Amino acid sequence: MRTHLCFGLDYICYPRKEWRVLALPSRCSLLQLKIDFRAKLSYKPSRIFNQNIHIMPAPKKTPIRRKVKNWTTADSSDLYGVEDWSNGYFHVSKSGDLAVSLNDSDGSQREVRLPTLMKGLAERGTGAPVLLRFRDLLRARIRELNESFAKAIADVNYQGDYRGVYPVKVNQQRQIVEEIVSFGRQYHYGLECGSKPELIAAIAHMEDPEAFLMCNGYKDDEFIDLALMAQSMGINIYLILEMPNELPAIMARAKKLGIEPNLGVRVRLAAKGSGHWSESAGDKSVFGLNPAQVIDVVDKLKDAGMLQCLKVLHYHQGSQIPNISVIREGLTEACRMYIDLVREGAPMGTLDMGGGLAVDYDGSQTNFHSSCNYSMEEYARDVVEVVGEMCTKYEIKHPTLVTESGRAISAYHSVLVFNILDVTSAPGQDSAIPQLPENPSEILKSLDETQRMLARKNIQECYNDANYYRDQLRMQFFYGQTSLRERGIGEAIYWRIMGLISRRLTEMSEIPEDLKEVSDNMVDFYYGNFSLFQSLPDSWAIDQLFPVMPIQRLSERPTQNSVIVDITCDCDGKVDKFIDREDVSNSLPLHEIEPDENYYVAIFLIGAYQETLGDIHNLLGDTNVVSVHLENGRPVYTQEEEGDSVADVLGYMKYDPKVIVSKFRQLAERAVENGLITPRQRRGAVDAYRDGLNGYTYYEL
Ligand SMILES: Cc1ncc(COP(=O)(O)O)c(C=O)c1O
Repeated sequence: MRTHLCFGLDYICYPRKEWRVLALPSRCSLLQLKIDFRAKLSYKPSRIFNQNIHIMPAPKKTPIRRKVKNWTTADSSDLYGVEDWSNGYFHVSKSGDLAVSLNDSDGSQREVRLPTLMKGLAERGTGAPVLLRFRDLLRARIRELNESFAKAIADVNYQGDYRGVYPVKVNQQRQIVEEIVSFGRQYHYGLECGSKPELIAAIAHMEDPEAFLMCNGYKDDEFIDLALMAQSMGINIYLILEMPNELPAIMARAKKLGIEPNLGVRVRLAAKGSGHWSESAGDKSVFGLNPAQVIDVVDKLKDAGMLQCLKVLHYHQGSQIPNISVIREGLTEACRMYIDLVREGAPMGTLDMGGGLAVDYDGSQTNFHSSCNYSMEEYARDVVEVVGEMCTKYEIKHPTLVTESGRAISAYHSVLVFNILDVTSAPGQDSAIPQLPENPSEILKSLDETQRMLARKNIQECYNDANYYRDQLRMQFFYGQTSLRERGIGEAIYWRIMGLISRRLTEMSEIPEDLKEVSDNMVDFYYGNFSLFQSLPDSWAIDQLFPVMPIQRLSERPTQNSVIVDITCDCDGKVDKFIDREDVSNSLPLHEIEPDENYYVAIFLIGAYQETLGDIHNLLGDTNVVSVHLENGRPVYTQEEEGDSVADVLGYMKYDPKVIVSKFRQLAERAVENGLITPRQRRGAVDAYRDGLNGYTYYEL
């Protein structure tokens, strides 16, 4: 067997394989070699070979100078996928800031930079974390949805109308409901409610007699009475039967009030949804009537002479359906049911397909659960086409189409901006370069050499070596063959190597598969002034992905792979899954923060579900909220709502501020009596306690 050993080089050539020197314990009599198949095989543990070695002189090493491209704003836009997820509402500005496109009072579109907004807010005394609301984006979504349906209806010559409704549960804030109703008026855009409080909130906004108010959810007599009275006042309201036993209750109340109810029936489809909420439809779904129950409702209505009340077929396949073919399948089944209900003699007239219109959170345009493989226009087109073709085929009048699209309307308009409070570096990155002891062991020498030899071309080999030596070192420590000090130095070198590798990886366009875990492990923790449980509950509860990125310094290369940690003391309180074009990424590149820099990170597309699902874990309450629009080229801040104060959140937990201040005063007085503090110090302590009660629950600068 003939091999060539090149000192200082990485490889010993061997036919069809490459051999790699791991260590040279003595002058070449015994070589510790490792086989690097460099193909798909995984690395094997080191083997000891007694070889006949032919030593070759090492060729001179010439340093490789790679051209590191200057970082541009386009690179940041690409890195964070801004053009993919933002639907054109957000851009990276030329100045390197993240900007939102808003309508100015003269009708033109203008870019407003988020750091400028944050500066303006800070000057007015409103600090981070702050939820920014852009009503223009809410309006844009309503317009896009209605115009998509209008276009599809015209294109396929559909004979019915489209009447969207906004499901209040998606974001019940008064300001949002009012905005939607006001802007949606031109489209007769209505509302959907799923509970009594939502009904009570929604009814008050039903000024347009042509807009629908769809009532889903459990209905007690109070609910039913209110809906019937609203109907008698001319409100276009429908009671949708979710359970078989709702029918007798509604019939009884309707008889008592002398009102013929507008009824709908929610059907349980065999076609399942897809994504997180796939169980909302299908045989196991908890809502809706199965075909046998639907027929029973029809018979009961016929018997009572009330079949003319049945006007709506409703179904809901689940929220965020990423796959358009699933939508088509459900709609086809629902449409068959609709047609047969008409044939049974019910007037019908309206087909309500619930929610499900997805948001492309990760911008990948795929059927991944945080994305969708269709646009709003394609959704509208498919819906109109399927219903139109089927009804035409069965000679049934084209129904009015209703969708209860929630997240597709409200997700884009809210952005949470928070400041980074602190950073802890990945292991080994913030300590000094480890010094070898006077007589280092072979393993330490090898680790040190690996560190020095690390270059782009041998990054994979150095990674494997470092892991191998680290494991050996740990093993030796375990068996008492090396000291804690040696192990400590060795591990410090190991982490330094990982850090160097991870930095190089940020400069590479393609990262080899097994090196991806380096980036995952070598992350800095960026502590953000927010609570995941309050502002981003779906990230915690169902691993939903949201776009997250810095809003400034976007003309600079972000060098730190990071995980964002919130200020709750819960180890789940972190964002460690980020959107990525090809996959889900376990880290987010951020910039190294300058001393005294106010570095802001924003989370986008959080206008749906997050606000009211959020809770006050660790008693971190609602954040500050501000709505922003443009007038004469200048941002106007309206609807400012101060976030919860400490007294507010303690109040939710039934603490009475007066009582706890008095308790604290007693404690302070006892401390004075015991000579621990002076009366003047007592005053300071009580003032601080009172100030704390009035303060923001988040970190205040
Ligand atoms: C009955 C009903 N309609 C509409 C929606 C809104 O769904 P989406 O936000 O996916 O449009 C939901 C939410 O799950 C729902 O339960």
